[in-house]
Amino acid sequence: MCSSVAAKLWFLTDRRIREDYPQKEILRALKAKCCEEELDFRAVVMDEVVLTIEQGNLGLRINGELITAYPQVVVVRVPTPWVQSDSDITVLRHLEKMGCRLMNRPQAILNCVNKFWTFQELAGHGVPLPDTFSYGGHENFAKMIDEAEVLEFPMVVKNTRGHRGKAVFLARDKHHLADLSHLIRHEAPYLFQKYVKESHGRDVRVIVVGGRVVGTMLRCSTDGRMQSNCSLGGVGMMCSLSEQGKQLAIQVSNILGMDVCGIDLLMKDDGSFCVCEANANKICWNIRKTTKRLDFIKHFIRLLRRYRRH
Ligand SMILES: Nc1ncnc2c1ncn2[C@@H]1O[C@H](COP(=O)(O)OP(=O)(O)O)[C@@H](O)[C@H]1O
Ligand SMILES: [Mg+2]
Repeated sequence: MCSSVAAKLWFLTDRRIREDYPQKEILRALKAKCCEEELDFRAVVMDEVVLTIEQGNLGLRINGELITAYPQVVVVRVPTPWVQSDSDITVLRHLEKMGCRLMNRPQAILNCVNKFWTFQELAGHGVPLPDTFSYGGHENFAKMIDEAEVLEFPMVVKNTRGHRGKAVFLARDKHHLADLSHLIRHEAPYLFQKYVKESHGRDVRVIVVGGRVVGTMLRCSTDGRMQSNCSLGGVGMMCSLSEQGKQLAIQVSNILGMDVCGIDLLMKDDGSFCVCEANANKICWNIRKTTKRLDFIKHFIRLLRRYRRH
């Protein structure tokens, strides 16, 4: 245990990923850095938390313990499918309302949980985006078969809350789209997007921490499919990135209000890029250089120092 000091940092995570290798590594590195900096560190698991509002005031208990001293900074690492749930977002909102600085902030996370929400935020800022349509009403996918025709076939179709490349399709033609409309589940709306042919099976993941690019990775599919996701068998390798690509990723991160994120860019033939999606849960563990891995920790400590002065 480190010496008792006022500044507190929490690492808020989920029981279901606590035992993952990257999670353990992040925890170990954070703990060591906090000890070195004489910061009080605590790892908190989502389902240990009880949120209270008593006599009109927000409060918190962890495993039955009434919390009286709150952290200045809370590092959040909850995987995308779960952070979409109301209960996780409720915990994040509660902590923010109590005055904690969350990394990432709940609003920034929400900007990324739905791919169309991300594009709504980015639209109007001069950010290159592939043309993208979505719809109102719960099950209006079929209506889009005609409406989205201007995007031309083949056309990219995605569940707005999908992840790991699992709910992304390349629709060949109208008939294929009609077949899909019968097969898919409609719990979240879909989006229809212009296919960036030049980028088939390839994209660049840019890790941005505190408004700075700390790592770039070229991801390539290995079986001819459009999705380059490593979870589908794609391979990732460190790569260099043009200044334009870096500036674009930083701009996206700033507009979305992210502290730590992975911005995925699609590649054009002329060497330029457009945005594919933004991920809020990428604490740069897939970037191999150890020094880079520590960049996000340095950012948390910087933020904490800033808060300490206030
Ligand atoms: N419009 C597009 N044109 C070409 N390839 C795309 C397009 N959109 C997505 N892809 C490919 O599909 C992959 C998965 O899409 P993405 O939107 O990132 O969904 P997920 O959240 O499931 O990873 C991307 O990493 C990229 O390789
Ligand atoms: Mg992706």
